[in-house]
Amino acid sequence: MRVGIDVVDDDHQELFALVQEFETASKTSSGQVDGAEIGRILERLQAYVNDHFEREETAQLETGYEGYAENKRQHDELRHTLEKFIDKHRKGEWGDLKAATEHMRSFLAIWLQEHIMKTDRKMRGRILPWVRKRA
Ligand SMILES: [Fe+2]
Repeated sequence: MRVGIDVVDDDHQELFALVQEFETASKTSSGQVDGAEIGRILERLQAYVNDHFEREETAQLETGYEGYAENKRQHDELRHTLEKFIDKHRKGEWGDLKAATEHMRSFLAIWLQEHIMKTDRKMRGRILPWVRKRA
């Protein structure tokens, strides 16, 4: 699932690895999900998502990429959704922790996959020369 821009693909790999951590964290031997651990992964994921989106948006803005507005709209949607997930988690409103973790993990995995395939891929030809110039 590559975009063809190394810095972007490396970021995406890291994001999938973080999403995968939710699955590992919910497969404990006791069958109990550690809420604090889920909270820590959520915060690391949010920080990485924010850094990554900023990198993409900066590259798009500086190259005058025509898909910027649509890409930014999708990014803002996920930023907002993540904030809601985290807020609910902090307030202890997740209910069944195992089910909520799985719901969130699959939502994030599908969102990322769709976004990369349908939106990020379009920027390759426009962003690559800019990225190479800066490398
Ligand atoms: Fe993107």
